[in-house]
Amino acid sequence: MTKELIVETTSLTKAYRGRTVVDGLDLALPAGVVCGFVGPNGAGKSTTLRMLLGLVRPTSGSGWVLGHDLSRPQDYLPDVGALIEAPAFYPGLSGRANLRVLATLGGTPAARVAEVLERVGLAERADDAYKTYSLGMKQRLGIAAALLPRPRLLVLDEPTNGLDPQGIRDMRGLLRSLADDGPTVLVSSHLLGEVQQACDWLVMVEAGRLVWSGPTAQLLTGSEAVLGCEHAGDLPRLAALLEARALQVRRVGNRLHAGPLTGDDVLPGLNRAAAEIGITLSELRRQSATLEEQYGTLLADSLAGSLR
Ligand SMILES: Nc1ncnc2c1ncn2[C@@H]1O[C@H](COP(=O)(O)OP(=O)(O)O)[C@@H](O)[C@H]1O
Ligand SMILES: [Mg+2]
Repeated sequence: MTKELIVETTSLTKAYRGRTVVDGLDLALPAGVVCGFVGPNGAGKSTTLRMLLGLVRPTSGSGWVLGHDLSRPQDYLPDVGALIEAPAFYPGLSGRANLRVLATLGGTPAARVAEVLERVGLAERADDAYKTYSLGMKQRLGIAAALLPRPRLLVLDEPTNGLDPQGIRDMRGLLRSLADDGPTVLVSSHLLGEVQQACDWLVMVEAGRLVWSGPTAQLLTGSEAVLGCEHAGDLPRLAALLEARALQVRRVGNRLHAGPLTGDDVLPGLNRAAAEIGITLSELRRQSATLEEQYGTLLADSLAGSLR
């Protein structure tokens, strides 16, 4: 499979004074998705995004953004738009005037300003002073600025932080609409509920580690088998058996999660097949849950796994 990957990392790690905050992260972000990068506060989301943007140097591991090595951000940053912190705009200038300044500085044709204002839903308020904007409008102007040079990747760090419910709804609508014609989007949030509807891809992290990643729809179907076996050393063989049955397998602690399950009668077959190759299962259950519930389970499992 050679699907184009917009972001790919291998064992990406960042430690601050010996404390590991991003811990061996393997990311694979396909082109064209709106990806929610979800995890609780302190999970390492901002640090990861900063590493992708060349703002923080990884302690170890490697990565590629738009096909370029992470260690050479100058090669890919011209094609990346980002909103990492509250953007700096001139308070007394209108949104449109602010974008014109940026377009001039960045060598972007002035006609693009009206397009991005329309794109983020600010066309009607474009000529009002920036200082009169709500927080949500300020964030959307920041996204408009990031979209000016037509980036292939748009990175947004918690754009819904601090927004009121209407602002969150607007942002969600904007994210969803970007999927249609816009760049690949990587947007972080500490609240799954804020991004899940807008995102067709999810990457979940906890304590600097990857917990789950894949199409949102796959997590939403939520029907997967959870398997444990008597001897942890059998897990790789068990994983191979599941993969041979066209299930996608991931390891969470000492368990395997395999899915999506198709019929109701899959579990007995898995049990028999494992027994036939000499693996005794200590746990075998079907798990189906809403995304939110499952997210909680995944996080609990991964925490338990890291404590073992
Ligand atoms: N420059 C830094 N120096 C030391 N520790 C940091 C620095 N930046 C982030 N951290 C720590 O790294 C951890 C992850 O932070 P962060 O990446 O901001 O998480 P998130 O964005 O998921 O909330 C936190 O414990 C934070 O305190
Ligand atoms: Mg953060």
